[in-house]
Formats: sequence, C-alpha cells, structure tokens
Amino acid sequence: MELAHMAAALEIENASFTTPWTPGMFADELAQDDRVWLVAIEAEELLGYGGIMLAPDAVHVMNIAVAASARGEGVARALMLALAREAAARGARRMTLEVRATNAAALALYSGLGFDSLGVRPGYYDDTGEDAVIMWADIARLTAIAAAREGSDIILAIETSCDETAASVMRGGSETLSSVVATQVDFHARFGGVVPEIASRKHTEAIVGVVDEALEQAGLGFGDLDAVAVTYGPGLIGALVVGVAYAKGLSLATGLPLVGVNHLEGHIFANRLADPELTTPLIALVVSGGHTSLIHVPDWGEYHTLGSTLDDAAGEAFDKVAKLLGLGYPGGPAISRLAEQGDPAAIPFPRAMLHSGDYDFSLSGLKTAVLTYVRHEQAAGREIHIPNLAASFQAAVIDVQVAKAVRAAEEYGVRDFCLGGGVAANTALREALRVALAARGVRLSVPPFALCTDNAAMIASAAHFRLRKGAFLGLEAEATASLPLR
Ligand code: KG4
Ligand code: ZN
Repeated sequence: MELAHMAAALEIENASFTTPWTPGMFADELAQDDRVWLVAIEAEELLGYGGIMLAPDAVHVMNIAVAASARGEGVARALMLALAREAAARGARRMTLEVRATNAAALALYSGLGFDSLGVRPGYYDDTGEDAVIMWADIARLTAIAAAREGSDIILAIETSCDETAASVMRGGSETLSSVVATQVDFHARFGGVVPEIASRKHTEAIVGVVDEALEQAGLGFGDLDAVAVTYGPGLIGALVVGVAYAKGLSLATGLPLVGVNHLEGHIFANRLADPELTTPLIALVVSGGHTSLIHVPDWGEYHTLGSTLDDAAGEAFDKVAKLLGLGYPGGPAISRLAEQGDPAAIPFPRAMLHSGDYDFSLSGLKTAVLTYVRHEQAAGREIHIPNLAASFQAAVIDVQVAKAVRAAEEYGVRDFCLGGGVAANTALREALRVALAARGVRLSVPPFALCTDNAAMIASAAHFRLRKGAFLGLEAEATASLPLR
C-alpha cells in the first residue's frame, strides 16, 4: 500500500466503520518499518486493504476492509492469506486479530481460515461498547491454505486404517509425486483375514521406512511440505492409532499443519484422481474388506451415506466364503477367477435385503447359506461344483449391489457413479454395474486397481480439498474406529 492509494482507501474506510481511521493514522502506519500493508486491486480499482504489525514471532492484524461492492468475493480471504505469507517470510509463527463479536461474516471467514478464539475482551469497542473476540491462527495453516488455493501445495499423506501401511507425496491434489504401499497381506493370509494386533504391530514397524521412501521418491524433505494428512477413521482402531500418532508427532516436530481424512472420502477421491472428468452430483459405492457403503455426493466435500452393511462387508463375505472353501486369503480374486467358469444360476442363494426399500446391505446370511449348502451336499455324499458355487455366491452379492446402486442413481438423478474399494477389482461386478447404469444414461467410473485398494495417494487428494477449505485437525483429535462420513 502506498500513499497514492489513500483516497480510495479512505472511501472504503469511512463507508465500513463507525469510527474510521483518519488519513493521519494511515500515514503513520505506512511510515513504520514493523508494518506490512497490502492492497487488493482489480482493473485499477482498489477493492480492499489490510495491514499487520510485526512482533518477534507473531503478527497482529491492524485493520482489514473491503469495498461494499466487492464483498463476498473472497477479497478479505485473499488479503489475509497474502498478509500471512508476508508474515511467514519474516519469521512469524502466529497471527492475532480482534473482531466485533456481532460480525458473523468476519468470524466465519476467520474460523474458515483456521483461526481459533482465544477469548473475549468485554466492551472493547468505544462506539457501541461491543465485545471483541480475540482470535489467533498458526501461520503455517494460513500459508498451507494459500498454497492449496493456488494448487501449489505439497502434502504428505499417511494411511494405516487396515492392513496397508501407505504414504504419498502429492502436489496440488492431483500430481502424485510418490505413492508407497507396504502390504501386510502375507502376515494375515494364514489366519484367513486381517488380525488387528498383527496389523497394528506391522504398521509400527513399517511407518518410518514407508514415509522416508515416499519423501525420497518425491525427492523432497519435510521442509518442502505444506501439510501432513492422515486417515483418522474409520478402520481398525489399533491400526489407525499408529498413523495418527505418527502424523501428530510429525506435525508437532515440524510445525506443519495436520489435516484429517475420512478413509471413505479417500476412496471416493481415488476415483477423482484417476478420472478428472468425474463430476458431482454423483453416487459412490465403496466396497472393500472393511466397508460396503452407498454414498450420495451432491458436491465435492459433501456426503450423505445412504446405506451400508449391517454386518459383514462385501470383501469380507468373499474372504469368509473363500476360507470355507479352502481357497486362501484374500478370497475375492480366487472366487472371481473360479466364478468365470461357473454358472451363476446353478444355486439359488438368497438376495438379502433386495426388496428392503432402503440402501442397507446384509451379507452374513449369504455366508451362512453357503455354509449350509456345503454341509448339506457333503452329508448327501455329493461332490461340490466349486466354480458353480463361486459364480452363484458372487451373483447373489452383485444382484443386490447393482439393484441398490441403480435405485440410488435414479432417486438422486445423478449422471455419474463411481465404484471404489478392493472389491471394485471384481470384473463381474464392474460389468453388471456398467451395463445397468448405462441403460439409464449414468456413467460408471472405476479407478485402476492400485487406486481401488488402500493407498495414501487417495488420502492426499482428499486432504488437498479439505486444506482449501481450512479444515484442520488439532493435536487433541483422536483416531475414530467408526468415524461417520460428513
Ligand atoms: O480395499 P481393500 O484393499 O482393503 C480394505 O480396505 O479392506 O479391499 C480388500 C478386499 C478383500 O476382502 C478382497 O477379497 C477383496 O477386496 N477383493 C475382491 C477382489 N479382489 C479383491 N473381491 C471380489 N472380487 C475381486 N476380484
Ligand atoms: Zn479401504
């Protein structure tokens, strides 16, 4: 800001405040070394201005104002973020300000930028006797938001919700600089499923090496990052805790802001990462070893879970049936391979909740039906046709998933549908969904296999969008096994 901007600035000042700053006050400010004043200009018109005072490791916002004609266009946010960058460049760590307790728009703006309230100064404003709310923000949060909004942010994301220890470094939410996944599947295979205690211990052993590898592949160090992101639910609590504790420790040690991601949001963003054409509103079906959820996404970042499994997840059903048939773990690939040679109509397994009228699923009855069928055939001395059994079981799963998927797409009138999670690797499910949706003019998006199964690139991509909105996790936040998607 220069003296030349003064006339236009005073016009905004006088129109904005009951006790406006005088020309002398502005002139005094601009003459001081420990101040930074910036202006927002578009097409030679002054839209707003803001100033900070520098203290040893903090800055205080002296004044910020936006022309009435330019309000609601993000000018104040842009000014705050630009001031934060100036402050960071001068070594400041915190930014403080005071705002009228009744100024709801300003309070919303500041909290959306990661400002927290420190308390109230009663009767601070002389003109009306109003209280001031004192707020402060970590400048690293503000500069991370600024980077995310211009698409230059670099995020390190960590994922440990199940049996994959994963880390990824990503720029701008879509440019994957590295994505490292250390799978524990071999350690769980002999038990026919994920053993939570083993998962937790293996994450602890792997996490440091996996993060180092992700940074090395990206050719970057902690100092190059804007934020650390972590999956904090849903998942196995003992597994989630390892990633969350590591990410918090890293945030505390480096001063990098922490962003928390819901694992299911990550699976939805895997689709967006692989298919930039994917547009909202859409319906997502996330089917994995741990989840079976049908989610309506009216807009990015907005989620309504329409339904989910009441008992076993879809992948879990494949794994349990495979275990029963002695096919090893994970069971999905083995069953889908065998199913290709079988007759899906051979055995009429139940289609649980097909006509329940809601979007929930139940898969444990199907597993029992398979067990009962196997026992019955064995007792009768008949040999079981494994491919027919596999194909019939798979068809029972797919029929219900497809029917509910199609109904959701119609009810919410979406043109896009995305499928994610490990079970999305099932070609029969993909094909059945694709055909049923295409008949109703709905496009199906399925990410490549490496993005269907658990990975941290999808977490980094979701974190970028959270970062743009200033959604951070405090160090008091906890891993949450049944975190709802909101
Ligand atoms: O997403 P994911 O890697 O891990 C979890 O978050 O659970 O999913 C793994 C699940 C396993 O249950 C596995 O059996 C299943 O995905 N799966 C399949 C197929 N490939 C993997 N299920 C059915 N058909 C497949 N081809
Ligand atoms: Zn998953």
